[in-house]
Amino acid sequence: MELPFAESWKIKMVEPIRKSTREEREQWIKEAHYNVFQLRAEHVYIDLLTDSGTGSMSDRQWAGMMLGDESYAGASSFFNLKNMISRLTGFDYVIPTHQGRAAENVLFSYLVKEGDIVPGNSHFDTTKGHIEGRKAIAWDVTIDEAKDTQLEVPFKGNLDPKKLEKVLAEHADKIPFIIVTVTNNTAGGQPVSMKNIKEVRAIADKYGKRVLFDSARFAENAYFIKTREEGYQNKTIKEIVKEMFDNADGMTMSAKKDAIVNMGGFIATRHQDWFEGAKGFCVQFEGYLTYGGMNGRDMNALAIGLDENTEFDNLETRIKQVEYLAKRLDEFGIPYQRPAGGHALFIDAPKVLTHVPKEEFPAQTLTVELYLEAGIRGCEIGYILADRDPVTRENRFGGLDLLRLAIPRRVYTNNHMDVIAVALKNVFDRREQITRGFQITWEAPLMRHFTVQLERAK
Ligand code: F0G
Repeated sequence: MELPFAESWKIKMVEPIRKSTREEREQWIKEAHYNVFQLRAEHVYIDLLTDSGTGSMSDRQWAGMMLGDESYAGASSFFNLKNMISRLTGFDYVIPTHQGRAAENVLFSYLVKEGDIVPGNSHFDTTKGHIEGRKAIAWDVTIDEAKDTQLEVPFKGNLDPKKLEKVLAEHADKIPFIIVTVTNNTAGGQPVSMKNIKEVRAIADKYGKRVLFDSARFAENAYFIKTREEGYQNKTIKEIVKEMFDNADGMTMSAKKDAIVNMGGFIATRHQDWFEGAKGFCVQFEGYLTYGGMNGRDMNALAIGLDENTEFDNLETRIKQVEYLAKRLDEFGIPYQRPAGGHALFIDAPKVLTHVPKEEFPAQTLTVELYLEAGIRGCEIGYILADRDPVTRENRFGGLDLLRLAIPRRVYTNNHMDVIAVALKNVFDRREQITRGFQITWEAPLMRHFTVQLERAK
């Protein structure tokens, strides 16, 4: 008999989690203005708010913490980090930052000007925020297939070469660079193929433009290339990663995802002019160039995390857990963005809560229902997160309205996945009775989902 699949690690330290009653949760979520970001974490049983900064570090990473060099300038920990990044990506210039959006802030302060257009595949909300906050436009060129959640295509995160070529042909002078987000978080943790990366490179070269990878989940993307794209089965993850970055000019990185640290990020590039242009903003916003908002110990752990999580076994354990949850949802007929993403499952809320009008935010409604059902905290990636159109100030209902169940790395077991699946089934079974959603009582002008306040629609 073939042996079943099991995790490529064992557990050395545990953290207790607690259940609560429905009555308690009714009270807590009301006090949180029906925004799960406003809940206290101790009021959550299984936390799927994000896979960002919520992973478990390995014994080697903790050992690296003890060896951190906390020198203000020129710390050995910085060089450990820089050498690892250069080895994986081929980029020689590295600027550490405290997290991904800080990398965006530092680099875009140099690169993005008012009136610019930055094409990309479903820019993440902080990325969009850093572009729109500079009165520039984040121009989405994701393939149309990404909008149909039930379509099974292997690389649903891809950029549409025709859309990209069109915006370049019409607005080349306004475009400072192209962004490729690997994996495409907003479209469902969906990967970008190597073929597509190379097509984007060719189009960029034709117009003399540079390509920036938003690389938060680059290792998961490489896993999908290895397992889904022809010609990559026999390559190592590190070889695939190198080939991906060979086609980029630089990267911004939220190390809180695929480097499995609780805090950290960086910019890396092969171009001296980008480094020279951005470095002053690092000193201004983050800190001196060899720590940029991070402790020495954190840079050590980050370097080790990058090394470990670009190994096949670790990624396989991770992605198979997300697939396990997907299979359980399939049993119950719950619709999600297919195929299962790298870091999360994205439930297609309007397909579940068919009676809740879009103006009352179906995905937010489903998020609240799942919390009330079992204390599970997912997160809306939908109409609230989409913010308002910067020009018309109308809600943007054009995209998907999803409940994201992000799975932290090396944190929960498949027993937890079973609880999640059954809790969602229970909500799914009573979906006909859920007819009203929520209305906004207060919102911020940008990135409103973090602080939005809601009440039940009347
Ligand atoms: N880019 C992508 C694709 C992301 O998913 C994120 C963060 C960032 C950039 C910003 O990085 O949080 O370190 O500042 N995504 C988290 C999430 C917050 O839950 O998906 P950060």
